[in-house]
Amino acid sequence: MLKNSMNISLLLFLQVVLIAIAVVHTIADESFDVRQHLSTVSRYGTVKDIADDSFVPSQNLDQCTPIHLNLVARHGTRAPTKKRLRELEAFAARLEVLVRDVKEQKQSLDKIPSWLMGWNSPWKGKRTGGELISEGEDELYNLGIRARERFPSLFSEEYHPDIYSIKATQVPRASASAVAFGLGLFSGKGKLGPGGHRAFAVTSESRASDIVLRFHDCCQSYKNFRKSQEPTVKNLKEPILDEITRELVRQYGLNFTKQDVSTLWFLCRQEASLLNITNQACSLFGPAQVSLLEWADDLELFVLKGYGNSLNYRMGVPLLEDVIQSMEQAIKAKEEGYAPGSYEKASLRFAHAETLLPFSCLIGLFLEESEFELIQREQTLQYPPKPPKTRNWRGSIVAPFAGNNMLVLYSCTSNNSNKYFVRVLHNERPIPIPGCNGSDSCPFEVLKERIVAPHLKHDYNTLCNTNLEQKKKDSPPSMFSRMFGWIFSPRNADTPTQKVEL
Ligand SMILES: *[C@@H]1O[C@H](CO)[C@@H](O)[C@H](O)[C@H]1NC(C)=O
Ligand SMILES: *[C@@H]1O[C@H](CO)[C@@H](O)[C@H](O)[C@H]1NC(C)=O
Ligand SMILES: *[C@@H]1O[C@H](CO)[C@@H](O)[C@H](O)[C@H]1NC(C)=O
Ligand SMILES: *[C@@H]1O[C@H](CO)[C@@H](O)[C@H](O)[C@H]1NC(C)=O
Repeated sequence: MLKNSMNISLLLFLQVVLIAIAVVHTIADESFDVRQHLSTVSRYGTVKDIADDSFVPSQNLDQCTPIHLNLVARHGTRAPTKKRLRELEAFAARLEVLVRDVKEQKQSLDKIPSWLMGWNSPWKGKRTGGELISEGEDELYNLGIRARERFPSLFSEEYHPDIYSIKATQVPRASASAVAFGLGLFSGKGKLGPGGHRAFAVTSESRASDIVLRFHDCCQSYKNFRKSQEPTVKNLKEPILDEITRELVRQYGLNFTKQDVSTLWFLCRQEASLLNITNQACSLFGPAQVSLLEWADDLELFVLKGYGNSLNYRMGVPLLEDVIQSMEQAIKAKEEGYAPGSYEKASLRFAHAETLLPFSCLIGLFLEESEFELIQREQTLQYPPKPPKTRNWRGSIVAPFAGNNMLVLYSCTSNNSNKYFVRVLHNERPIPIPGCNGSDSCPFEVLKERIVAPHLKHDYNTLCNTNLEQKKKDSPPSMFSRMFGWIFSPRNADTPTQKVEL
């Protein structure tokens, strides 16, 4: 009798423990939103506000007025590229084979998620890809509106292309992003249509020579470096894919290969980001698996586009120079009392993750202060640590769709020696600058001396090996033949060298 009641209370106790564990589990699962773990496929609105809340922006700019703004933004949410669309269409047949194998082996179909039976690509039949989609237009349009609301004194002037310079790369999703931003920024200021729109100019350099916004595409040594890193990246990702593939095969009874799992993760990211669907491909992966896959994506980003190699960001020196120069111009205009309406107030640039990431690295964002010192001494950093350890370097934060850095130049009336300050806003939030004692605002001179100058020692053409011989070899002998070369060469002659671009 006594023994029995003890057993019962033990059972009860166990039950309570189990319930408690279950509750903890569901809470953890509920707060885990896969849409915040999609690395560079993350939507701006989903990740904009998840950054570290503990950082307290500095108050020292209260007595200052913004006099110039530099924006470097990535294009907004875009459709998968043509190549990826084809990969997904082919995957439908692959899933069919996997399911058929199970049937032929007379095994149970119970474990197979129902969406997977007879699955077809949601983009089936779509023949073009890579374009800015309507959600992406929305991101940039609203960013434009918020920029104007936040800096009314900067955007109060009548539009003129010399006052508001808007530049995009020659890639349609980037220039469409510039247009969407401009529509927001200038809405209600013109006479066109019920929205009071106005026309504005978006200018682009030719793709082949755009070393300010597409430096990665003009840099031969970078292309060589990327190629040389393929085995490194593969070795980083392979063990994670292997492990997750084994787990999925066990769980769902389908003989997925590593390639299948890689495609499923790609599909998950596209579904979650573009279609807001998280109960299909994404539901195959648990939170721990998603975190590992996200980390693998972030590592690749680190190695190929981030702090993993100094060339990745040093080749962005022309962009950094352009930004600093525009600030110096603004300071000159201020010092010399130029008439309002005669000088630039904002330089707005729309480009790619390949532009934004190096730019963030050049100003030293997302580093620990000790790491900033390493970078200055030209030493390499450790890889971002594996989950569950946390890391600053997260693709979803550093370069989501429409991710951006704004460098706002302030003029301060105070008497001290630092009259001009630069505040960095990343995705519209003040962010610590490790090179500036972790403050979000830096005296312009300090920024220039301590953060920018060490990079400017490097020359783009030397870094990139874009020497004159190369130029001669590449460019046809005369204007005449160049014109005809352009007319007769296939439109996409340059695609083979263009890697998966973000
Ligand atoms: C999956 O592969 C294993 C080992 O190769 C095999 O024994 C099993 O029958 C396969 N299952 C299916 C459903 O094809
Ligand atoms: C996405 O789906 C969630 C529910 O899963 C919903 O709460 C949210 O509003 C949706 N977002 C958009 C942009 O449709
Ligand atoms: C401003 O600078 C002048 C001369 O350097 C000094 O005499 C004065 O006290 C300063 N004022 C303030 C408010 O710091
Ligand atoms: C950082 O802090 C140290 C000590 O507090 C100070 O000496 C130095 O001038 C500061 N540097 C910047 C860039 O503010």
